[in-house]
Amino acid sequence: MTSKTSDSIHPKVVEASSENIHLAAILLREAHVIGIPTETVYGLGGLISSDLAVSKIFAVKERPRFDPLIVHIPASIEKSLENLSRRRWIAAHAIDPADRTAIEKLMQAFWPGPLTLVLPKHPNVSDLVTSGLGSVALRMPAHPVFQALLQAVDEGIAAPSANRFGRISPVTASDVASELGDRVSLILDGGRSSIGVESTVLGYVEKKGFLLLRPGGLPREEIEATLGEKLDTITPTSRPEQVAAPGMLDSHYAPEKLSLRLARPIRSLSAGELKLVADHLRQHQPHLGMLSLLSPHGENAEAAVRFEAATGIRIARIELSRNENDLEAAQNLFSALRAFDLSPSTLLLIEPVERLSGLFLAIEDRLKRASRPLVF
Ligand code: TXA
Ligand code: MG
Repeated sequence: MTSKTSDSIHPKVVEASSENIHLAAILLREAHVIGIPTETVYGLGGLISSDLAVSKIFAVKERPRFDPLIVHIPASIEKSLENLSRRRWIAAHAIDPADRTAIEKLMQAFWPGPLTLVLPKHPNVSDLVTSGLGSVALRMPAHPVFQALLQAVDEGIAAPSANRFGRISPVTASDVASELGDRVSLILDGGRSSIGVESTVLGYVEKKGFLLLRPGGLPREEIEATLGEKLDTITPTSRPEQVAAPGMLDSHYAPEKLSLRLARPIRSLSAGELKLVADHLRQHQPHLGMLSLLSPHGENAEAAVRFEAATGIRIARIELSRNENDLEAAQNLFSALRAFDLSPSTLLLIEPVERLSGLFLAIEDRLKRASRPLVF
């Protein structure tokens, strides 16, 4: 499922051996925060029972307190609402009996895995974790290292993605080191995250049902097929006070350099439109890094050549997936954004995602939040 990252030279990055997992569990119990691999992205973890650890998570990430954390739970437990209640994570009595079967079906179908369920919270879960909301986000990660750690501490671990707030999510231990290396006690290296985008966050509200709060590693179609109903979505906003899912602020996952997104693929732009785009881009910088989901062959290759000729700007193409495979594109997404920041390119141009099935929905969401729109 994972491959080791051999380029980790940071002293806090350690191999996820059983001794080091044991050490990580001790550190967690002493209210340290650490970098932990998951199948989606790396997390910055601390015990939910420790207000000190949870406060550190917010401080280390520079994350605003209004943006709640996901509680990660062991895979060894029985996947029922009654049991989640018994473990004092949720308040099952606040869930409409008519909806219980559907929620349990989702847990049984997709846990452990990239699905986060937002459910009415148990009073035992600290308000620090949930930012004072009446709900708690629960996820059972599939990564064996995270699971071994949960088994060792036998309680919930709060873990946002291990990046500074608003920055690109980490998919390797060395990404975590470059984001937060000086601020965490340890980073467990569990190889590259096998999915590459964060979990899908599904909200449940009594009497209203389910709401897709964040597209992610579990395709919405799979949830819809299990529920037998279409999901409503929430749209990103720039106004925190209106946000049902506080993490849905529209600027997020952003590279440090300028990134702009086209409304249409380059191959469909007319000569006049190309000229307008070129004029706009020239105001910024002469270099261009280009991120694309499309294969650099055929029509697209010709369009790129035309674009270079029309604009006089050199294009360095970053390809997310040669065959337009959604999982491969997701796996490459955040590394591509990170590589762009380190490259000589000064501007990133993003072509629109044309297909929104499977993981492409999450990829489109992250790319939108990483960039500003162009007219064409
Ligand atoms: O894949 C993932 O989910 C990763 C790994 C580490 O598990 N974690 C992650 O956490 O992406 P974070 O904190 O970067 O994103 C959590 C999202 C945020 O958008 C947050 O607002 C939302 O979940 N969330 C958490 N608790 C919530 C709640 N009670 N109600 C609504 N949204 C909630
Ligand atoms: Mg995040």
